[in-house]
Amino acid sequence: MKVLVVGGGGREHALVWSLSASPLVTGLFAAPGNPGIASLATCWPIAADDVAALVARAVAEGVEFVVVGPEAPLVAGLVDALDQVGIKAFGPRAAAARLEGSKGFTKDLIARAGVPTAAYARFSAVEPARAYLRQTGAPIVVKADGLAAGKGVTVAMTLAEAEAAIEAALVDGRFGAAGAEVVIEEYLEGEEVSFFALCDGETALPLASAQDHKRAYDGDQGPNTGGMGAYSPAPALTRALEAEVMERIIRPTLATMAADGTPFTGVLFAGLMLTSSGPKLIEYNVRFGDPECQVLMARLQSDLLPALLAAADQQLRHVSLRWRPDPALCVVYAAEGYPDAPKKGAVLTGLDAAGATAGVQVFHAGTKQRGDALVADGGRVLTVTATAPTLATARDRAYQALGAIQFPGGFFRRDIGWRALG
Ligand code: AMP
Ligand code: GLY
Repeated sequence: MKVLVVGGGGREHALVWSLSASPLVTGLFAAPGNPGIASLATCWPIAADDVAALVARAVAEGVEFVVVGPEAPLVAGLVDALDQVGIKAFGPRAAAARLEGSKGFTKDLIARAGVPTAAYARFSAVEPARAYLRQTGAPIVVKADGLAAGKGVTVAMTLAEAEAAIEAALVDGRFGAAGAEVVIEEYLEGEEVSFFALCDGETALPLASAQDHKRAYDGDQGPNTGGMGAYSPAPALTRALEAEVMERIIRPTLATMAADGTPFTGVLFAGLMLTSSGPKLIEYNVRFGDPECQVLMARLQSDLLPALLAAADQQLRHVSLRWRPDPALCVVYAAEGYPDAPKKGAVLTGLDAAGATAGVQVFHAGTKQRGDALVADGGRVLTVTATAPTLATARDRAYQALGAIQFPGGFFRRDIGWRALG
């Protein structure tokens, strides 16, 4: 089967790496890919959200199955457009990708489904939003409705912060159309965990547990990022909790989506808060987490391709996945200035030595080939992923491999896995 992976980050490198091991794959393409992916697949210089160009090239090359990494092409309708030309894809259609594309849509849907979540209200005008805030007080959370590159959420500890967030979105237009509406919701306290399930519209198959670290600096300090590292399994996600999340959150969501005529296929990624009154849904993403995907792929023993195909073909009830018992841990090597203003262009060396460390895979995230040199070309530049019989050994291997990489100005967290390692 000829398979195309859409995207060019660490998540997509891990997906390509996993798919490249499948005996069912006869051709592997990526768009736009990256220099790491290029050693395993043929890269096309087409942006991940250029739906028309992706579809045209997929047809021309005889691609039979497309795996979509990031949310933007899903929200833009890539899966729908591929279906129109008869190409199967892994990922939700645009109508179901709204679970990530619109927070207000999701809140209304899960309220109907009876899923436990923070109390909320939606606003597109500033005065009623202010009046609502005066009733609720702080702490309170203000969210731009649409995709805002991870910057649309303000966890406001004071009323003044909350008012500023409302004004930034509704008056100043800081998030453009994505912030033309806001959701104001109750502040939830507890430990945050992520939950991933493959879905085929009807059946959900939970994946191994994985947890990322969102803050930029050690000790969970500094600004929010896309994720600075991850580990799997995540001890906070016990078997009992998994069953509860499936029963109270994932299944009711899938049933409601199906009843609405917008069945969800792909990976449903639930951000959860473990509150004193049980797990509550913070948000949905409609794709694999990055860098959670890297540790999941490192642990997946089954062939990835049949599982993704089964999700696209409504056949997940026949699938079970095997995972290596060994834990995995990955550390993101980020560029100076990430997340606000990452510096591009630093020359990267030592990747081969790092990748030669036992149990280690170096996944490229934001890299570029410049002549003979590999250079940093994004905020999160590399994800160094290690597996080992214990999480502590996996961590030691990942950090040992990081030590072999020269990345002027680059930084990484030194405490990835701390919650699980104690
Ligand atoms: P999001 O962009 O929706 O992932 O939100 C970013 C972060 O804001 C989440 O990972 C949480 O840490 C935090 N957050 C979002 N909603 C809430 C909430 N209702 N209560 C407390 N923290 C929240
Ligand atoms: N690591 C979190 C995300 O991919 O959204």
